[in-house]
Amino acid sequence: MNIAIVTGASSGMGEEFVTQLFMEIDNRIGAPYDEIWMIARSEDKLQNLRDSVANIPFRMPERRFPILRPIPLDLTKEESIRSLAALLEERKPVIRLLINCAGMGRNSAFAEQTVEETRSAITLNCTSLSEVTNICLPYMLPAASSLPKKEAPRIINIASSAGFLPQPGYAVYAATKSYVISFSRALATELQSRNVAVTCICPGPVDTNFIKVSKNDPNATFTGFKSKFVTTTGKLIPASLRASKKRKKMLVYGLGQKALHLMSKVLPTSWILFFERGMS
Ligand SMILES: NC(=O)c1ccc[n+]([C@@H]2O[C@H](COP(=O)([O-])OP(=O)(O)OC[C@H]3O[C@@H](n4cnc5c(N)ncnc54)[C@H](OP(=O)(O)O)[C@@H]3O)[C@@H](O)[C@H]2O)c1
Repeated sequence: MNIAIVTGASSGMGEEFVTQLFMEIDNRIGAPYDEIWMIARSEDKLQNLRDSVANIPFRMPERRFPILRPIPLDLTKEESIRSLAALLEERKPVIRLLINCAGMGRNSAFAEQTVEETRSAITLNCTSLSEVTNICLPYMLPAASSLPKKEAPRIINIASSAGFLPQPGYAVYAATKSYVISFSRALATELQSRNVAVTCICPGPVDTNFIKVSKNDPNATFTGFKSKFVTTTGKLIPASLRASKKRKKMLVYGLGQKALHLMSKVLPTSWILFFERGMS
């Protein structure tokens, strides 16, 4: 059984990944996945997504579509990682695609942040992403050695342009995304010879629930210079899937983010922080 796993599937980018993967077709083998495993805490949202996407086959009865499987888990909990490992052990799938998308960050001065907020951001963005990758690799590597490059397993890790530089107001979040970038680049190099591609996606602001969750305000939107660079999941996710299929190691999405990435490599960090403060 070939599967794709998407964490953070209940909203935003993860939801769009699931929808795009559901529609994906390979000219040679039809639907590349027998099942798409959708992971997030909100079981009702995962079921709603399954039900809304599941309307598509009625319009195309001649095509085979993957089964969408909601797997409600809080990935910050050790027992969730254990139950995902147990499910993999029971079903023994071939994981053709792992998308580590679940993530969050609190927008506040670090002094105002609680220990619980700090712990959950670091655990979800760094520990869980790494542990999910750990437990999935044994279901990717054996198949990878016998598959042609085009069909070999892939991993997509969602980082952020916040990971290029320290970000006052998002101190912990930006640091966790630096971890995701560093981890992904190293893993991509380690796994290259074993035929597993790892692509690290670095978007700027995206129009999802992220900003509402990070400000703890259901009406929050991006403000200041960030509001000029907001993109949509409808643009970002197809570009991310294309980059992964081309087995690119990194996608920095958008001109503004590319410029920031370049500046982070050549300018002193203190200069960029000074400009950022002035613009926000
Ligand atoms: N939107 C942006 O501006 C932006 C920019 C750059 C990078 N990113 C990154 O993009 C990724 C996706 O975020 P998004 O923009 O799509 O935001 P989102 O709409 O808030 O989605 C976050 C997803 O993570 C899941 N999640 C949160 N805590 C979880 C936990 N403890 N266990 C399991 N799942 C959990 C959420 O589902 P439940 O609440 O149901 O658990 C949701 O499905 C994140 O890694 C984020 O850091 C976002």
